[in-house]
Amino acid sequence: MPATPISFARGAPAPDLIPADELADCAHDVARQDGARVFAYGPGGGYAPLRDWVAERHGVASERVVLTVGGLQGFVFYAAEQLARRPGRVLVEAPSYDRPLKVLAREGAEIVALPMDDQGLDPDALDAELRARSEPPSFLYTIPTFQNPSGRTLSDERRTRLVEVAREHELAVLEDDPYGLVRFEGAPPSSLLELEGGTLVTYTSSFSKTVAPGVRTGYFVLPRTDASGFEERAISTYISPPFLPEAIVWEFIRRGRFEPNLARVQDELRSRRDAMLQALELHLGGHATWSTPEGGYFVWLDLDGTDAGDLAARAEEAGVAIVPGAGFFPPGSGLGGSSARLAFSYETPERIAEGIELLASLR
Ligand SMILES: Cc1ncc(COP(=O)(O)O)c(C=O)c1O
Repeated sequence: MPATPISFARGAPAPDLIPADELADCAHDVARQDGARVFAYGPGGGYAPLRDWVAERHGVASERVVLTVGGLQGFVFYAAEQLARRPGRVLVEAPSYDRPLKVLAREGAEIVALPMDDQGLDPDALDAELRARSEPPSFLYTIPTFQNPSGRTLSDERRTRLVEVAREHELAVLEDDPYGLVRFEGAPPSSLLELEGGTLVTYTSSFSKTVAPGVRTGYFVLPRTDASGFEERAISTYISPPFLPEAIVWEFIRRGRFEPNLARVQDELRSRRDAMLQALELHLGGHATWSTPEGGYFVWLDLDGTDAGDLAARAEEAGVAIVPGAGFFPPGSGLGGSSARLAFSYETPERIAEGIELLASLR
């Protein structure tokens, strides 16, 4: 048993991946230099210099960008806005990130799970679902790159096809992309936003994985028609977001620290991903299958009939935490019973190797 529990459950960066000292310097400097703005009420869409930077990166007007208190808070606004406009069902890929599934259930949406495989969401299944029901759905929620929980990435071909289907059915799409920049190898695909142009697709990302989750700064790039309604929801929830963390992120970028920090995060996570894949091959080869992500935080493990809930309980007693797959599917679907999400973001390569060996011995 490890001296301290090994966590493959936490979709969080290891403490040494957080540039805490530099962020502390940035906090000091922005508070001194721009205190009057940072400590005041201000625009609901967020700290203007950072908002402008995001807008420029995506080639859109700043009014179409809203900075949110993390990506998940923005998801709540987006879902509420879309469901108010068009109540009913929301399409998700199966598996999908569990927190939005809970938000959707709480909002009273009917959650429809669409199949995916190693190439990501199946756009033909999406098309078939849209044709099968006369009432149009509220929106599609998708995480096309290094998906949480599966680590899978939607192929180029399917991205093009998905956009075609969305256009044909005038389907609103939320593209959630907090991991896209955390790429270890290979060329990045075009985003759905780039392919579609931003009429139907809303794009969201966050600085949680590229800077630090504690800055709680995410952002949305919205269709022109949706931006003011979305910003209005932010204003009626918190008047204006906390500007200090947004200004810290901005100062970090202004100092030229964003890219070098990202390169360090990519290097560190690549060796953790490699350690996990090697250990899986060594200890579970032939007994299970798993995804091989080119980036992000997660590997999806299929345990070939083993009950993942039961394994997770025994693993926890032995000092290894994993998340059973069932929670990443809509409640009651009965799917994901022999799958698990393994995060390689939190532990060192050595502890990852130790944890996988232990997990395999319990199978
Ligand atoms: C796919 C996905 N979307 C959104 C988030 C929310 O991140 P945050 O609220 O920290 O920006 C996460 C966090 O893990 C995530 O995995």
